[in-house]
Amino acid sequence: MYVFESSRPVVSPLFFNRREELNFLLSSVKEVENSRGVSVLIVGSRRMGKTSLIREFLRLCEEKNVNVNFIVFSFSMVSDYETLVKELKNFLHSKVYNPLRKVKETFREVLETVKVNWKYLKFEPKPKDVIEILRNYMRSVAKYSEMNPTILIVDEFQRVQEIEEFSWILKGLIDEYPTFSFILTGSEYSLIKKAIGSKAGLFGVFTKTIHLTPIDEKECLNFLRKRYVEGGFNFDLEALKEIVKLSGGHPWILQKIGERTLRYGKEITIEVVRKAAEEIKEEVFDLLTRNYYDLDDGEKNVLAILPSTPKKIAMELNITPTMVHIILRNLIMKGFVKKEERGRYNYLNPYVESFCKGLPTVPLRERGKKIYEIVLQKLKEYKVADSKILSNATGFSKRTIQASIQYLRKKGYKIVTEKKGGKYRYIYQGLAKKGNNRFLRR
Ligand SMILES: Nc1ncnc2c1ncn2[C@@H]1O[C@H](COP(=O)(O)OP(=O)(O)O)[C@@H](O)[C@H]1O
Ligand SMILES: [Mg+2]
Repeated sequence: MYVFESSRPVVSPLFFNRREELNFLLSSVKEVENSRGVSVLIVGSRRMGKTSLIREFLRLCEEKNVNVNFIVFSFSMVSDYETLVKELKNFLHSKVYNPLRKVKETFREVLETVKVNWKYLKFEPKPKDVIEILRNYMRSVAKYSEMNPTILIVDEFQRVQEIEEFSWILKGLIDEYPTFSFILTGSEYSLIKKAIGSKAGLFGVFTKTIHLTPIDEKECLNFLRKRYVEGGFNFDLEALKEIVKLSGGHPWILQKIGERTLRYGKEITIEVVRKAAEEIKEEVFDLLTRNYYDLDDGEKNVLAILPSTPKKIAMELNITPTMVHIILRNLIMKGFVKKEERGRYNYLNPYVESFCKGLPTVPLRERGKKIYEIVLQKLKEYKVADSKILSNATGFSKRTIQASIQYLRKKGYKIVTEKKGGKYRYIYQGLAKKGNNRFLRR
């Protein structure tokens, strides 16, 4: 029996919460049953529970015996182009990722109507070929949906290589087939933007966008209590509260800590929880690293100065309050930040806090401070640095750094360029004052 599960998408009873989202998805099914097309986008950072939500939704549909067919296409295991091609081949050979029998049967039925150019599958297809296969395939699904209520689900759709083209294919099919319905899930915002931005095919087409965020404390406590009871464990409430606090309601971290506590015998105490939480730190940091790369500079800047209030953030970063609100909302959606009482914003949990504190703070342009002054300040601090280090430390481009160094030299600062191992670095030697020519000549 599984008390917790952290390495696979989950369904009930290992799945909890998300009732609003599930209700919405179930209401969409009703629409589709009545031959109305729906298009839903589910966004959430990695391991926030997108695939689990889809699975639980499919399970409920099966339980309720709904009269809609599902075709599930999962890119969640795809990490590179070769894998994508392999997945696509598997897909077309009916090895679909799929928890439900009904779905598979539908798939075969649909497959017969697919006009795929099979020669592509014999050779390594090029990106263009892959998108052609997808185009043909999706058109068949859309056509099929005219006679049989069908929902196409594409998990981690941002992994489609030609994402912009993919968005236009979907758009074309929506216009041509009013019954064509789909649910997309996605996690990398920088890629999703290419499909839903104002110049992309999916701009404004979604019936609804669901943002998956961490789960609230009460729900988490209930879940933990139920799971430990079912597993025959003793626990004190403080221990469960500690798990919730350490996870910040992030469902994967919650399950991960829970799972780890089971190694310590039948008594779950606060000490056990803390030990377990420490042991999974590296894995949580791996996840945070990947999610951090998806942030833009504005978001990273705000993360560097939390906890704070929007007003203080706006002052400190010299950006408008509106901008601060947009950034904070995005950081909440991406699972980095939570709102506390009295308009204060803080890190989602202690992992995020120590992760962000360990990173070199993204430097912030102080009000009224000149670029060369900021570069000089960093160079003084480091004494020796190359343009990459200075660029990272100041947030300015390497070219700007080089220009600043030139300017500083003109102003009389002695900055030596040294070549070492094929790389150039700058050595700060102080201000060359008049009358200090001995120093300058050296
Ligand atoms: N609603 C939920 N209830 C319980 N656990 C969840 C829930 N959503 C996610 N999880 C946990 O998070 C992990 C990752 O979920 P998954 O659905 O694979 O995320 P995603 O598809 O967003 O990457 C699961 O293995 C499970 O431990
Ligand atoms: Mg997933």
